[in-house]
Amino acid sequence: MLRAVILGTGFYVPENIVTNDDLSKMMDTNDQWITERSGIRERRWLAMGEDNRTIMTGSDMGARAAEMAIEAAGIDRGEIDQVIFATLNPDVAFPGNGVFIEELLGLNTAGAMDIRNQCTGFVYGLAAADGFIRSGTARTVLVIGSEIQSTAMDKTTRGSDMSVLFGDGAGAVIVQGVDGDRGIIASVLHSQGRYARDLWLEAPIATMPERINAEMMAEGRHFPQMNGPMVFKHATRRFCESINEVLEKGGFKPQDIDLLVPHQANQRITDAVGQRMGLGPDKVFSNIAKYGNTTAATIPIALAEAELEGRLKEGDLVVTVAFGSGFTWGANLIRW
Ligand code: COA
Repeated sequence: MLRAVILGTGFYVPENIVTNDDLSKMMDTNDQWITERSGIRERRWLAMGEDNRTIMTGSDMGARAAEMAIEAAGIDRGEIDQVIFATLNPDVAFPGNGVFIEELLGLNTAGAMDIRNQCTGFVYGLAAADGFIRSGTARTVLVIGSEIQSTAMDKTTRGSDMSVLFGDGAGAVIVQGVDGDRGIIASVLHSQGRYARDLWLEAPIATMPERINAEMMAEGRHFPQMNGPMVFKHATRRFCESINEVLEKGGFKPQDIDLLVPHQANQRITDAVGQRMGLGPDKVFSNIAKYGNTTAATIPIALAEAELEGRLKEGDLVVTVAFGSGFTWGANLIRW
């Protein structure tokens, strides 16, 4: 049976470390508040160049992560016939970042698709890669999650509920069609648009001829807005629901999971989900303390780190699960 197997993983995070103490010099916050509420101790924010632009783009970070994944997979990059790029912060309004990967990696006109599902982007991307492979549309898919959050945040006290949580980074996987039992077994994907305004970035807005104006900027409507407690409540519930749903689809139970790789939104969410699913910390991957929430990049970064740490072995049953703006949520069940 043809299955979509993750052959290699890779990640890239900027060198520039921003600690909670660094943030307390920019806004009214402190290490204790951030650590207790989120488990985050530091995050990576891209350094700024002399031209007042980040020294790398989201595509550049994605390409670095992809190079590592290609090497780990042991494939020739010419085998990649489809790129799927998940980000909520594309380098420019259009085209999406996928085409920049085609150029940066020299992929010889491979297909490029962009996914705008925020924190759930990688889970949707993996499901799409599985569909492309099983249908014969592609054989080797490069799935990337990459985000520059540091330029999108309100780094004053007004935005302190959001800006302390997010970081920059990229992760990537090579997915290839292989006959056998390994690979993506099932995926589940969901959305609920009635909560779109509880975690969103409103401006620039397409229905206004000028897209954005001084009043909107003064009100901070070009920065993301979040109803934190509402997101927290829904995330915890939807994480557990999707894990159970995807397990049921594959004919498995929570105790069969070797490693749960959740979207890194908040350590308290991760702990609550692990507890409700009956999974101890050895079965739930976490690196949020180092990187914060890198939205679409958290899961592929975590997969790459889990492999490097020897926590992912061939034959392991792995679940990736995410929740984010939309609201959107979903999970993938994978025989590693
Ligand atoms: N530092 C210090 N104080 C802060 C702060 C910061 N960075 N950000 C907000 N506060 C203050 C608020 O102004 C508020 O003050 P008030 O009580 O005087 O009005 C207070 O902290 C709110 O605290 P609390 O109610 O304890 O917040 P919380 O427990 O709801 O935690 C979040 C806030 C954002 C950490 C939490 O809601 C959360 O993690 N939500 C989910 C976020 C998430 O995962 N988003 C991405 C989803 S993919």
